[in-house]
Amino acid sequence: MTADSVTALQPASKIRQASSDFFSDVIAGLSSDPRTLPCKYFYDERGASLFQKICELPEYYITRTEIDILDRNRAKIASQLGPNIELIGLGTGAGTKTRILIEALLKPAVYIPVDISEKQLRKSTALFHKIFPNLEVLPVCADYLQPVALPSPRRKAARNVVYFPGSTIGNFEPTEAMEFLRRIANVSGRSGGLLIGVDLRKDRQVLEAAYNDSAGVTARFNLNLLARINRDLGADFDLNHWRHRAAYNPSAGRIEMYLISEIDQLVHIAERKFHFRSGEKIITEFSYKYAPEDFAALAREAGFEFVRMWTDDARLFGVFYFVAG
Ligand code: AVJ
Repeated sequence: MTADSVTALQPASKIRQASSDFFSDVIAGLSSDPRTLPCKYFYDERGASLFQKICELPEYYITRTEIDILDRNRAKIASQLGPNIELIGLGTGAGTKTRILIEALLKPAVYIPVDISEKQLRKSTALFHKIFPNLEVLPVCADYLQPVALPSPRRKAARNVVYFPGSTIGNFEPTEAMEFLRRIANVSGRSGGLLIGVDLRKDRQVLEAAYNDSAGVTARFNLNLLARINRDLGADFDLNHWRHRAAYNPSAGRIEMYLISEIDQLVHIAERKFHFRSGEKIITEFSYKYAPEDFAALAREAGFEFVRMWTDDARLFGVFYFVAG
């Protein structure tokens, strides 16, 4: 498949739809109590590149730990998933982890990356064509939170395995996470697999440092959401009067990320006006952390049987494998 056919999967009407969704989601979120903004809008071009930088930060243990777990256990993971699979990657971005996985897989039938960032999808598809010339790659540019129609591979696969790395599942509230996993169980079908990366519960200091890095990259990533609203929706957020903050909520088991208004201020978005008091917060992201048994229980409720978990020595992160019952 060529880079052009990636665009073909995204009809013009859908792109217009996407920008009006952005507007209505922003208005709805800022009008609610407490105020929120959906974290999926972090990832415009600048946001995606800031996220790449986050992944390389010394405090952000998540990415390097997950890669390390994959690296050390690649052969065991590959034999667990079995030969001739259809691998469906959700939000696989630049494809660093998927590459490690595919290198280890036994004669994979097809790789279907589903990603919202068209630029990353194009780049990773070109790279995968080059390093795996015999592997069929069928990219789908879509928001995997919506039902997505998947293309049919040339070769019939033994089973479908959905790969959902990065602990992105942590962005959902637990009930939503369960419903999302249930939809995945329907996609992967009978005896289909799910390989999923999940950040584990740990000390507050480690967690809070990961989301309040000393170089301030996470702050720029969070504030970019307001810059994007200014750029794409013609708003007038003054970035000098907003501050990033991330705190661990141990009873909910989640990192909560906020943008905090430093002064009493008025913000315009198209015809709408929003008043923010000094110290008022907008919630921009929840990032849930799970104990292994709690995540296995959640997946079971969604119809997945726990097969096994690979982890690091410090048990910071888990790569779980489930099979649909
Ligand atoms: C991509 C959702 C896993 O929650 O750690 C990183 C996003 N936000 N730093 C996470 C994120 C702030 C990240 N996930």
